[in-house]
Amino acid sequence: MSDNRPRRTFAVISHPDAGKSTLTEALALHARVITEAGAVHGKGGRRATVSDWMDMEKARGISITSAALQFAYRDHVVNLVDTPGHSDFSEDTYRVLSAVDSAVMLVDAGKGLEPQTLKLFKVCAMRGIPVITVINKWDRPGLAALELMDLIEQQIKLRPTPLTWPVGEAGDFRGVLDRRTGEFVKYTRTAGGATRAPEVRMPASEVGEADLAVWQDAVEEHELLSADDADHDQERFLAGRTTPVMFASALQNFGVAQLLDLLLDLAPAPHATPGVDGSVREVEDEFSAFVFKVQSGMNAAHRDRVAYARVVSGEFDRGMIVTHAATGRPFATKYAQAVFGRELSSIEHAYPGDIIGLVNAQALRVGDTMYVGERIEFPPVPSFAPEHFMTATAADIGRYKQFRRGIDQLDQEGVVQVLRSDLRGDQSPVLAAVGPMQFEVVQERMTHEFNSPIRLSRLDYQVARRTDAAGAAALSGARGVEVLQRSDGTYLALIVDKWRANTTARDNPDVLLEELPAGGA
Ligand code: G4P
Repeated sequence: MSDNRPRRTFAVISHPDAGKSTLTEALALHARVITEAGAVHGKGGRRATVSDWMDMEKARGISITSAALQFAYRDHVVNLVDTPGHSDFSEDTYRVLSAVDSAVMLVDAGKGLEPQTLKLFKVCAMRGIPVITVINKWDRPGLAALELMDLIEQQIKLRPTPLTWPVGEAGDFRGVLDRRTGEFVKYTRTAGGATRAPEVRMPASEVGEADLAVWQDAVEEHELLSADDADHDQERFLAGRTTPVMFASALQNFGVAQLLDLLLDLAPAPHATPGVDGSVREVEDEFSAFVFKVQSGMNAAHRDRVAYARVVSGEFDRGMIVTHAATGRPFATKYAQAVFGRELSSIEHAYPGDIIGLVNAQALRVGDTMYVGERIEFPPVPSFAPEHFMTATAADIGRYKQFRRGIDQLDQEGVVQVLRSDLRGDQSPVLAAVGPMQFEVVQERMTHEFNSPIRLSRLDYQVARRTDAAGAAALSGARGVEVLQRSDGTYLALIVDKWRANTTARDNPDVLLEELPAGGA
């Protein structure tokens, strides 16, 4: 049976502590998520839900899941794709962004634009992902709304187009003015935040005496915004030139329904996707999907390895035989899983925008395409410029086999980039990361999962540039430069610093030294 409900596939991104977990929980709760497969039990019998956030699990006694949370809202199906929750900025976030059609950026009203907020905005811009901005924590003191709009405009170069405007300043939150309808959406504080959104809508004429003064301020600012060309324009939003903004309190569930409505009304649906050869897969074409995340060790008892894929086109039916574009081999999808709930459950069908988990799909790597019918291969998930480099060696030489297996596995999953050269040999590959926390993950997993503790030692490089075999030969022996190779064949020249990178390029005009998209700080 075909399910033709429209899809919205998005990720929530933010600087740590802006309220991502809180918002996710509130979204899920509001949409009354959770099919039987995803239903899990929270503390005290309260129906909990949810996604992959380990911290959340620990802090709130909720069952964790893996990659995406799916729920029905109005007549749509919403896929909320998890982004890594840890505080370091890593490559995972970028990869997840390749699987979504839009992003919701959470900004802490008290803190404004924080370093990761800025970086993530940049990545979204680079990938052409439209961003809806949610100013969160409006229930407590923070920056002025107009000041926040200025920050977005100046630091991100995106024009903010508020769809709601706060009535009452941060910390004295009375509700919002819905700029599309002119209504007052009144905010009532609830205890614990475990109810559905406490929002009451009323026309301007019914705004109560107590709120009247701040309501009038809001109306004035709203008019100022309109005069200043800050009204929503769908075309400019989809082109990545503006960001719709709304004000919320995730903790109090305020703004959650508004956000879901905005996603359905404004965020793009899954759309046609070009392949590397320029051919295009329309969503209604035959099945195709690409892998954006590979994870193993989620279930300690089973040592499973799950490849998560986003459906790009066509209908997925469990058990169908697809072609793995990288090898041209057929691939049976008997073990397709719905991706929420610790007890992975079988998924029977999936549609463009949905996320499927393929269990023990050893052949699948991040970026791989699967398809039925006419051949298609989607562009590789971009890798970003690593800025932190370490050599890794087995702490116990007797465990070299385990060491090798572990490093290869983590390489395949994209936990870090693994670089090798003849000069360094296989005993001590170089690990390259966008964020230093990636190394901690490696150390932890090498010790506990692969039984081979490792020793890491820092290398004094700060810059990586892409080169080729000719470049590797030309640069051999150059000062402050070392060329190594990634397992996908890419040559990377590691260089001590930017200054040396510039002089090396100047002294070797014929050598390819291409900058990679910047990721880290
Ligand atoms: P993250 O996933 O983005 O890292 O953030 P998380 O949801 O864990 O929220 C970080 C902190 O901010 C939490 O407080 C959370 O309760 C609080 N918070 C989130 N949204 C709001 C909001 O709208 N208003 C207010 N006032 N606070 C909010 P915590 O003290 O670190 O944890 P907890 O003990 O409250 O769970």
